[in-house]
Amino acid sequence: MTKIAASILSADFADLAADCQRLLNQGTDLLHFDVMDGHFVPNISFGAPVLECLHKALPEVFYDVHLMISDPVKYAPDFAKAGANLITFHLEAVPDAVPETIAAIRAAGCQVGISIKPGTPAEAVYPYLDDLDLVLVMSVEPGFGGQKFMPSALDKLSALRAERDRRSLHTLLEVDGGVNTETGPQCAAAGADWLVTGSALFKAKDPAAVIDTLHGSH
Ligand code: DX5
Ligand code: ZN
Repeated sequence: MTKIAASILSADFADLAADCQRLLNQGTDLLHFDVMDGHFVPNISFGAPVLECLHKALPEVFYDVHLMISDPVKYAPDFAKAGANLITFHLEAVPDAVPETIAAIRAAGCQVGISIKPGTPAEAVYPYLDDLDLVLVMSVEPGFGGQKFMPSALDKLSALRAERDRRSLHTLLEVDGGVNTETGPQCAAAGADWLVTGSALFKAKDPAAVIDTLHGSH
């Protein structure tokens, strides 16, 4: 079944744990933690201390940490210590240091993902597929929630799915940005295993219905 990763960027930060628990009760599978440094992307979100508090409040949850930062090697250990299960970094942030970055995240004790922005082709991650737990395809320019889904992500998901199957790998495919009850099923059909949803879930009048639709979409 397709899994739903709730992007807490759209949560009520004044009541973060309760807002996350509300969606977990409805069937959200994991929490997606968007870290922005105001350098790799033109926005600042939150860092490891917030994850540490959330992890203390909700220790059983799987924490899918999406680092939209320029120096993932420097900060990955902080997020690992704070409770991250999987840490994804951007290929565009460290194009010449991908193996070292993967190794640093593994050494910190976490699963590893690579993310690509809309302008980066799927083939750019092929050399690293064997060493990854997950590939995150951005379907918006990273930096802000609530943007419109870019359909070019669908072709990338299909290409990655075909390449993964051709090589008999188990690398998970995740998609992030503008995922809702209309675009989510398209992503699942194209090959996504995990759907990140922020605004479409946190702001939904009936989140259970959104979750049912997205779960049933594969
Ligand atoms: C964008 C973030 C996303 C975003 C998703 O840079 O990586 O996780 O918050 O939010 P929605 O679902 O609102 O596009
Ligand atoms: Zn994200």
